Order: sequence, then structure tokens, then C-alpha cells
Amino acid sequence: MPLVTSKAMLEAALAGHFAVGAFNANNMEQIQGIIDAANEENSPVILQVSQGAIDYAGLGFATAMVKVAAEEASVPVALHLDHGASFEQNVICLRAGFTSLMFDGSKLPYEENVAITAKIVEMASVVGIPVEAELGKVLQSRDKVTEEQVRAAMTDPDQAAEFIERTGISSLAVAIGSVHAMEAAEAELDIDRLKAIRAKVNIPLVLHGSSGVKESSEVEAIQYGICKINVATMLNQAFIKGILDGYAANPKNIDPRKWLVLSRDGVKEVVRSKMRLFGSSGTVTSSGFVSPPTSHRTAELGHLE
Ligand code: G3H
Ligand code: ZN
Repeated sequence: MPLVTSKAMLEAALAGHFAVGAFNANNMEQIQGIIDAANEENSPVILQVSQGAIDYAGLGFATAMVKVAAEEASVPVALHLDHGASFEQNVICLRAGFTSLMFDGSKLPYEENVAITAKIVEMASVVGIPVEAELGKVLQSRDKVTEEQVRAAMTDPDQAAEFIERTGISSLAVAIGSVHAMEAAEAELDIDRLKAIRAKVNIPLVLHGSSGVKESSEVEAIQYGICKINVATMLNQAFIKGILDGYAANPKNIDPRKWLVLSRDGVKEVVRSKMRLFGSSGTVTSSGFVSPPTSHRTAELGHLE
């Protein structure tokens, strides 16, 4: 099916207390692994490309590969710009066919973040494309950040309500304790802060830096409004493991497909397990729409009610 926007699937996630996975891809095998998982789990999926992926694969290639993958998919697929760096980049990606956008103004002064985000929303809303933006900062693990720094960068619930009011965004990326590019799932999210944000805002919330978050904390956060969960580092780890396993099995191999197929399947298995954890598995109806999950999901989360 053709690409869809992320709007309907995130609204269904908000209503159904599940989350849609947003998986970063840099090459064909990662794209195929992600889409294969979505088909097998009958789950909606957001395929996202970052600045790094655009620099690596090229915007044309990246967009064309995702469009083909979506055409061949049996589930709704959105193509999202991850951590969009400017108004201009958002315009270029919209024109290229992206069906979901993000502006990351978290490093800018608040008023500048508001102004540029609002301008992008005004532009994208002309063609019904949703925009995500970030308030507070989800820091980088490479900067060896401290607990205090992570806490100081967290999203302010009151400012979140005003930011949404003034920009008109469709989803808000919040800083509630995750850190980008952690190589082990050790972080606990600040659920009390998430509850405080949820009490002030009623749009889908986005979790960045999820590779470093404990799964129990992710599941709890979904209960309190996290509807989109970004996953990148974990997929890169699975991809590299496939190559290393291939090399270990046959160092003399000269056919890259023999190793890359292991990478693709490794990525697929990570994505499948995340879709089950997030509760998006089985939410695509025969008419292709996304509906809240069946009862088993809620039962599983019973202890969180
Ligand atoms: O925007 C992408 C994500 O925030 C990915 O974070 O590499 O820690 O999973 P991660
Ligand atoms: Zn991120």
C-alpha cells in the first residue's frame, strides 16, 4: 500500500494504550528487515531516516527504497524525517514524499524553537502532513552525561502545554530520562514527570533514545501517553552482529549476501520483539486501518492500572 501519514496510527495508539515503533534505517537490508517484521506482526510501522542516513544513502535512494517497501507491504507504513535540522530540510523532505516530519529545535532558545516549529507546521499542514517537535533535550551517551545533566534537560510540563498551543504540532518528543545511543538497556524513565506532562497535554508523546531504556519502563510509559518509540542503536547492533556471525562461520566467504541476510534477519527479530512489547502487533484491520489492540494486551498490563 502507498505510504500513509503517522497521524491516524498515532491517534489509534493514544486511544488504545499501545505504541508504534519508529525504526531508523540506513540501508536496504535494514528497511527490508523492518518491513518484513511489520508484515509478520500485522503492525503499523514508522520508517525513519536521520540526517546521518540521508548523508549516507542520499535522500533520493532512501526515499525510493522506503516507497517500494511500503508498496509491497500489507500494513500501513509512514516515512518520517528524524531529528530534522531546519525549515529547509523539512521542505525538501516533504517534497521528496515524506509523510511525517520532525524539527529538532531542542538545542535552540525556546522562542526560536517555537518560531521555526510553528513555521514548519504551517507549511506541512497545507498538505496534511503531521509534525513532531522536541522540548527539553534527549542527550547523547557519547557526551558521557551525568544523572544531574539528564534531569536538568527534562521537559517542563507547563512549558509543554504552551509549546503545543503555540506551534500546533501533532506529537511531542519528551525528555523523561532516556539518552541517545546507549548500548545497553539500563535507563529507567521518570514516569511521574511523564504523568505530569500527560496531565497537561493530550497529543501523542514520543520517546527517543529507547535502545537504552529498560523494557519494563517502556511498557509503563506507554500507559501514560508514549505513542511513538524511536529505535536505532539496537537495530545497528543486530545488523553488525549478523556480519560478525557470518564472518565467524566462514571467514573465506566472498558473497556479501551470505552475511547481510543474517543482518537483515537479525534486524527483523529485534523489530518483531519490540512490536509485541509496544502492543502494536495485530492492530491492523483487514481494511488496513489501525485499531486499538485486543483485550490480551490490556490484561498483560493489568498490574499498571
Ligand atoms: O531518533 C532516534 C532515536 O532517538 C534512537 O535512539 O539509538 O538510542 O535507540 P537510540
Ligand atoms: Zn532521537
